[in-house]
Amino acid sequence: MGDAIRLAANEWPEPTPMGRYLTAGDMERVVLNRYPGSGPATELREILAARYGVAPDQLTFGNGSTDTLLGLFLMFGGHGRTTLVFTPTFPIHMRLATIAGGAVARENVGLPYEISAERALAAVERTAPHVVLFCTPNNPTGGLIGDQVILSVAERYPGTLVLVDEAYGDIAGTTLLPALADHPNLVISKTFSKEHAAAGLRMGILVYHPDLAEAVRAAQLPTNVSVVTYALATRIARDEGTIRSRIAEIRSERERVRRGLSGIEGVEPFPSEANFILFRVGGDPVRVYDRFLDEGVLLREMSSWGCPGCLRVSIGTPAENDRFLAVAARVLAPTPA
Ligand SMILES: Cc1ncc(COP(=O)(O)O)c(C=O)c1O
Repeated sequence: MGDAIRLAANEWPEPTPMGRYLTAGDMERVVLNRYPGSGPATELREILAARYGVAPDQLTFGNGSTDTLLGLFLMFGGHGRTTLVFTPTFPIHMRLATIAGGAVARENVGLPYEISAERALAAVERTAPHVVLFCTPNNPTGGLIGDQVILSVAERYPGTLVLVDEAYGDIAGTTLLPALADHPNLVISKTFSKEHAAAGLRMGILVYHPDLAEAVRAAQLPTNVSVVTYALATRIARDEGTIRSRIAEIRSERERVRRGLSGIEGVEPFPSEANFILFRVGGDPVRVYDRFLDEGVLLREMSSWGCPGCLRVSIGTPAENDRFLAVAARVLAPTPA
């Protein structure tokens, strides 16, 4: 069977050793005795601000987006406040809002995951939330939410925080960053865990309107990210060519995996702009999950996320995708009557 392959967490599949980014000289320059302060973040702030088309002080950093989002929920979505999410979506969002002490309201979109502006506005009207969360592309469904849907909420409800999780936005090639200047209640979340191939580093970024950024900085912990993380993240961010080629590879491999799944009778892959594909199977998804596992392929079973009959596969290396498709052809083929 060979080694098991993990296609379950939407990570970049090839190892990225730290030594690829930090030289011995860098290690001498990164000193550990002082608190991080604002200095070690300066270069990363400048590189990302230029890429995002914003000013450097519109960014805040944290230990992955789970950390930046928890901070945001503590500030805007805590006790006595409500966060609206459109399900099925990334369950960590709901967990973070709950940990922060807030309530979660759900609008169940189901499959296919298509949200119209009318539906989004009606959900906001119904639940009167303090924070509305849009995840685009959405995990686990993979598709996009239209910019106009999100902006119509931000415009109709200027006193509500509209948080857009763009963890997979660079893979899709879409972003609402240009809308930030005219929408002070919009916040955009980014991460180094996907096409930056650094899920283990833990680097999350929030991008705010300048006015909101100032208020958030006043409340934020000043030393929440280590100098080591900043040094590595700066090197990774500078390596734009590699990031672009990873995105191109993910897109072409994703299409190959999607075509392979579509060719199996009874299997329905959902369109994806991200580095994973949600697919519906004919039989019991838990049994299908177990059969993949028996063959050394770890997937994610998705009924517990509100996608009945579905599994999610992360896009792996070309060799891993070959192996996934070979196992899929055996495991998912309809059994003769
Ligand atoms: C939509 C979404 N947001 C955030 C994350 C987590 O990102 P991070 O590793 O930056 O905490 C994930 C991870 O899978 C995700 O799917």
